[in-house]
Amino acid sequence: MSSYKIAVIRGDGIGPEIVGAAIEVLNKAASMCGISLEYREYLAGGCAIDSCGIPLPIETLEGCKASDAVLLGAVGGPKWDNVEPSRRPERALLGLRSGLGLFSNLRPAIMFRELSSASPLKDPGDVDILIVRELTGGMYFGENGSYESSDILSDGTVKGEVAFDTESYSEGEIRRIVKQAFELAMGRNKKLTLVDKANVLRTSRLWRSVANEIRRDYPEVSLDFLYVDNCTMQLISRPSSFDVIVTSNMFGDIISDEAGEITGSIGMLPSASLGAPGTPGLFEPIHGSAPDIAGTGKANPLATILSAAMMLRWSLGERAAADLIESAVRKAISAGYRTPDIMGNGSGEIHVDTRAMTDAVILMMNK
Ligand code: IPM
Ligand code: MG
Repeated sequence: MSSYKIAVIRGDGIGPEIVGAAIEVLNKAASMCGISLEYREYLAGGCAIDSCGIPLPIETLEGCKASDAVLLGAVGGPKWDNVEPSRRPERALLGLRSGLGLFSNLRPAIMFRELSSASPLKDPGDVDILIVRELTGGMYFGENGSYESSDILSDGTVKGEVAFDTESYSEGEIRRIVKQAFELAMGRNKKLTLVDKANVLRTSRLWRSVANEIRRDYPEVSLDFLYVDNCTMQLISRPSSFDVIVTSNMFGDIISDEAGEITGSIGMLPSASLGAPGTPGLFEPIHGSAPDIAGTGKANPLATILSAAMMLRWSLGERAAADLIESAVRKAISAGYRTPDIMGNGSGEIHVDTRAMTDAVILMMNK
């Protein structure tokens, strides 16, 4: 029997509830597919600040490194809004990404047909976009700092404090993520869009030249380039024409929220952060910790359940178990089960809380 070690980080807000739900579903899939999963719990984010004074304790990073995969709920909340920037809960995420070398972030934005009325777009069509976001480079991890300047601006104002964050990318960093995006496009509709700002940024021009080199190895994939500002418009006007998008850390952060919103099901969207083969991947829902509904039973567990399925597929290579979970989620949606975030007009819907949605998915795994 294959056996895997899973590092579990429940985190803050609704994190503990949705991770609990995903573990129940994972256990059911594991028993049906003859896999053994061993969980170890670690602290990160606000709860780690409260108990150890820092967002990412060393035991957490070490524990994650020693596991086969990491399942994470969400971190952060208003309680820690005034914490010094270098100790904010979000630093835990950045520390995990860089500490585990998770350079590739897969964010599928998929429209569930039954939920299309929740999309803010009138006629979105069949949206199924895979955003491949670079995750350990660019402005998030570039040189940054601040200094005082007494220079005078053209209107006579003193410049004062100057702050800077640097966008920098090496060919190697670009090559590994773009290559992965081509590979992923090969397994889908063979359309890849590189989103950048090459009319202004040198880093973007380097992305383009590396992509133009790599495309020779993938003659079947059609590659096109889109400026990020234009991309935000095209995502609204023709979302169903995108297949795979590859982009930098900063642009990927922004457009993945937009793409998620277009599907109308932000509470449904999972993500995978992957590194070199053999490194544990990190799997988390793309929504946040939603502290306003924590403990109320209103949280939609499906994004975390689908993240657990991605974990089975991408880190553990357990395709059958992943398929089982994904199809159970689809069946639960088709059968009408709806948490508050995805409720529509009510007809044919079964309104449920976190607990009942989890039970519905487990039930559908037997069907
Ligand atoms: C995300 C989040 C994070 C990011 C924050 C919380 C640091 O917005 O995962 O998209 O900017 O990467
Ligand atoms: Mg974001």
